Amino acid sequence: MRVSIASVFLSAFIHLYGPARAAPPSSHSGWNFVQNGTSGIIALESIIVSDTLAIFFDRATNDPLQIKNHSAWGALWNMETNTASPLDLVSDTFCASGGFLSNGTMVSVGGHLSNVAGVDDGRMGLRIFEPCTDPSGATCTILEDLANIHLAETRWYPSSARIFDGSLMIVGGTHIGTPFYNMDPVNNIEFFPKKDGGVPRPLQFLERSLPVNLFPRVFALPDGKAFLVANNQTIIYDIERNEETILPDIPNGVRVTNPFDGTATLLPLHPPHYVPEVLVCGGTNTSDQIPQEQLSSQTPASDQCSRITLTPEGIKRGWEIERMLEPRTMTEMILMPNGKVLIINGAQSGYAAIDTVRDPVGNSSNSDHPAMTPSVYSPDAPLGKRISNQGMPTTDIARLYHSSVTLTPKGNLLIAGSDPNFIITNGTLFHSEFRVQYLNPPYITADRPQLSNVPKTIAFNKKFIVDVAIPGGLLTKSSSVQVALMDLGFSSHGFHSSSRLVFMDAKLSPGSGKTGKLMFSSPPNNRVYPPGPAYIFLTIDDATSIGVRVMVGDGFTPPVEDQGVRV
Ligand SMILES: *[C@@H]1O[C@H](CO)[C@@H](O)[C@H](O)[C@H]1NC(C)=O
Ligand SMILES: *[C@@H]1O[C@H](CO)[C@@H](O)[C@H](O)[C@H]1NC(C)=O
Ligand SMILES: *[C@@H]1O[C@H](CO)[C@@H](O)[C@H](O)[C@H]1NC(C)=O
Ligand SMILES: *[C@@H]1O[C@H](CO)[C@@H](O)[C@H](O)[C@H]1NC(C)=O
Ligand SMILES: *[C@@H]1O[C@H](CO)[C@@H](O)[C@H](O)[C@H]1NC(C)=O
Ligand SMILES: *[C@@H]1O[C@H](CO)[C@@H](O)[C@H](O)[C@H]1NC(C)=O
Ligand SMILES: *[C@@H]1O[C@H](CO)[C@@H](O)[C@H](O)[C@H]1NC(C)=O
Repeated sequence: MRVSIASVFLSAFIHLYGPARAAPPSSHSGWNFVQNGTSGIIALESIIVSDTLAIFFDRATNDPLQIKNHSAWGALWNMETNTASPLDLVSDTFCASGGFLSNGTMVSVGGHLSNVAGVDDGRMGLRIFEPCTDPSGATCTILEDLANIHLAETRWYPSSARIFDGSLMIVGGTHIGTPFYNMDPVNNIEFFPKKDGGVPRPLQFLERSLPVNLFPRVFALPDGKAFLVANNQTIIYDIERNEETILPDIPNGVRVTNPFDGTATLLPLHPPHYVPEVLVCGGTNTSDQIPQEQLSSQTPASDQCSRITLTPEGIKRGWEIERMLEPRTMTEMILMPNGKVLIINGAQSGYAAIDTVRDPVGNSSNSDHPAMTPSVYSPDAPLGKRISNQGMPTTDIARLYHSSVTLTPKGNLLIAGSDPNFIITNGTLFHSEFRVQYLNPPYITADRPQLSNVPKTIAFNKKFIVDVAIPGGLLTKSSSVQVALMDLGFSSHGFHSSSRLVFMDAKLSPGSGKTGKLMFSSPPNNRVYPPGPAYIFLTIDDATSIGVRVMVGDGFTPPVEDQGVRV
């Protein structure tokens, strides 16, 4: 389903600029991997924080990138120079989560109790990265004041999602050293900024989903509730009433959270009804009652994708099943601005975590047979025809445990990390991976539409008119026009916290020359798009613009009030 077809003025366009380009694609016009630069630390978590910068987080160990007199475990990745500069962190960010608040501040949440001297316990960590417009990042800072600003619980392997009032909901995790299964669970949720006087809320679901419920997959639904997936179980959680509703299990015994990581995404939301659908792919159908030392790195992962529509009728229908082209664990799904979903990274056999199965490989990986060719999932195609890797390139860099990937403002994918080892390990098959790659979609080297004069702040339920430059011949009578409002998410452990795509009703009208006006309507309210930073991308047929960063909502510090109109 396309959002809107700009047909009204198209005949005028075609008259002005002639028919669609007939030029054949150049040799670089297909999808391609480009390796460029090294990350200096293992990028086991990543998040885009500005048009030019991503943050990478790692474990505090012996990474080559240095700060002051020690190894760094955080870095700013400059996407223009393809270089990493160290961040001065206080506590250990190993296996944390994070995301943006409604005021544009990025918060890293939870972490690890380090045994490295001089590194603070990161399990209650809240690391605050204020909005920073310095393109080089030289003046950007990250604040940790653990004595005064910290979580209520110690949380390693938690996940998080920005909710309707612009706060982060922080879910689950483990208190301490859990080598594989969750043996010391944190069966509750809390919020930042604090709610309920800072007292965490018990969540029965987390107890029921033991012992395979680390990094629960959490999604903010367009009515303000949350959908959660852990192990093979799912619920809707009503945040305002503190009520759980149990939904159908993932079929066929497939389990999808750490250490059996599959991945999950909220599919793009379309006006006018914003019907939420969730897609869950990969993981394993292994029982969660088998002792870890009996598991094998060679056991095929699951190739199952399960999809559910979160309406009363959809829930009654239950999960719809289809198969990926290969089994995948620790894979990740990335929403693309055209509404398709990229399936990338991970392994075809084994499990997450390090050196716990009976037959680790190269040299301490619980997984094997890296999945080297991404696939594209088309949500609108008929069942059984949605997944394809036609035209997709194959890489030779394994991205297993502790790797990350994110869409960038340019519209390509930033891929980094992989380290199924306890410390930085070189010279083995699945060594610590520092090479950074981009996966470029075909539009990266094509003539692309370009948005300009986009307001910095996008209030809810309003119409906006912005300028657009359109390469000659791109727009035809039958062109589809899509305008995507996106949170690019926080990548950690096969999950992209807060990642979201809301399509906006839009109309493209010609101006003079190769310019035009794009009119679009912002989401109706702060539940459809939790208030906070976003990128707007315009896609005309197969050509997607560079994303333009905006602030959605009033930009205030959470909790913010309901805004716009309810649908
Ligand atoms: C591992 O390799 C990286 C990249 O070549 C290098 O910078 C680092 O010093 C090496 N570390 C160890 C512990 O050998
Ligand atoms: C680094 O310097 C600080 C402050 O001078 C000192 O306390 C710490 O022990 C040093 N760490 C290492 C690894 O040398
Ligand atoms: C790597 O990135 C740098 C900085 O953007 C650029 O100058 C260089 O051409 C790139 N190299 C390759 C092989 O793409
Ligand atoms: C989900 O897992 C539980 C516990 O292992 C099991 O009892 C249940 O049958 C599973 N559900 C499905 C649909 O396989
Ligand atoms: C479990 O998954 C494997 C690998 O995908 C598959 O071969 C097997 O048939 C599945 N078993 C069940 C009971 O679904
Ligand atoms: C292989 O893994 C073991 C256990 O994790 C570790 O002690 C050893 O140093 C590793 N060997 C190499 C070559 O990295
Ligand atoms: C955003 O809110 C958080 C939580 O209250 C606060 O720490 C941060 O400083 C705020 N940022 C801005 C830019 O106001």
